[in-house]
Amino acid sequence: MELANRVQALTQSSTIAISSKAKELKDAGYDVIGLGFGEPDFNTPEHIIEAAKDAMDDGLTKYTPSGGVVDLKKAIIQKFKKDQNLSYTLDEVIVTTGAKYALYALFQVLLNEGDEVIIPSPYWVSYPDQVMLASGKPVFVSGLEKNDFKITEEQLENAITPKTKALIINSPSNPTGVMYTKDELKKLGRVCLEHDILIISDEIYEKLIYTNDEHISVAQLSDKFKKQTVIINGVSKSHAMTGWRIGYAVGPNNIIQAMTNLASHATSNPSSISQYAALSAYEQEEEIDTIAEMKDVFSKRLNTLYDLLVDIPGITCVKPKGAFYLFPNVKEAANLNGFTSVDDWVRALLEEEKVALVPGSGFGAPDYVRLSYATSLDSLEEAARRVKRFVISHSLTKKS
Ligand SMILES: Cc1ncc(COP(=O)(O)O)c(C=O)c1O
Repeated sequence: MELANRVQALTQSSTIAISSKAKELKDAGYDVIGLGFGEPDFNTPEHIIEAAKDAMDDGLTKYTPSGGVVDLKKAIIQKFKKDQNLSYTLDEVIVTTGAKYALYALFQVLLNEGDEVIIPSPYWVSYPDQVMLASGKPVFVSGLEKNDFKITEEQLENAITPKTKALIINSPSNPTGVMYTKDELKKLGRVCLEHDILIISDEIYEKLIYTNDEHISVAQLSDKFKKQTVIINGVSKSHAMTGWRIGYAVGPNNIIQAMTNLASHATSNPSSISQYAALSAYEQEEEIDTIAEMKDVFSKRLNTLYDLLVDIPGITCVKPKGAFYLFPNVKEAANLNGFTSVDDWVRALLEEEKVALVPGSGFGAPDYVRLSYATSLDSLEEAARRVKRFVISHSLTKKS
């Protein structure tokens, strides 16, 4: 049976593909170190698991309102008030099946055929496909390494056409871990306001910042910006709840209501049990601070792995401020090793040294690789040793 045109160009996400390949090798008995994961390696905190069990015991296992249970929406509203001094009403919030579905639904309700969405690159792998699935056109703007991969207002201005509908800002970023400053956000926000472009602010890594930099949402910077912004967030990364599939979006009422109507036909509602689990994550946050512990561990790993990586010949790296990824430039190492593409270098590294990294090509940056440090410090140190051995031994082979 021939498939619909809209899925012809669709491929499996490159991050999922590398994790599957690493798992295959592991299952075959190899000692593989997988650094492809996009999820915290911590268990979901116990009190959240208990809340889910209670929800099941209490019979909270039925359909919920499509936009999410009211108590969870209220908790999300409180979170925005407390963390960012942003006020939203119930009809400006939707709880979704992961942040991924919030983005998917947003593009579906926003875009007509050919509408353009500006995506700064390097970007999270799913943005372009999600835009295309909604008949939109991704327009990539390169964040340069010398500007910490961030795009400037001039670059944004130059990318705007009469078809531009939205700009995605992902800060802290997957895959680079860099963050926009207040000033930079203000400049981008002004351009969006001027051209009536919606700002999609993906803040899923908001809680995972390892410097003294404060997380800032463009929506916080003025009431006008807030009205022009949809914020995407969720508990997947902040509370080690990737499998529970709870995300959310807040923004202008007409957009959120359209997303809610779409969800009513597409998913009905996110899992009721997961919603009550997420509710407890927010309600008990004051007493049980599991995020701080997780951050402490991530921060140590980041610093260790960063130092080990930049010590390898031909590898340079912009030091991330948040998320749990490093995004080094390995083009020179790949060249030194006789590979014409980083993709080939990554494949050979997996075959020979059994270290799984994600090639940057899937993030729109083919000279780079993404390493996730959501794994033990021992594994990270061993992975760095193997990468160094690989780079050095291949450089020698090439010279001889
Ligand atoms: C930048 C970014 N946005 C959104 C998501 C989706 O999060 P969720 O697992 O809640 O769907 C991810 C997950 O990897 C991500 O990295």
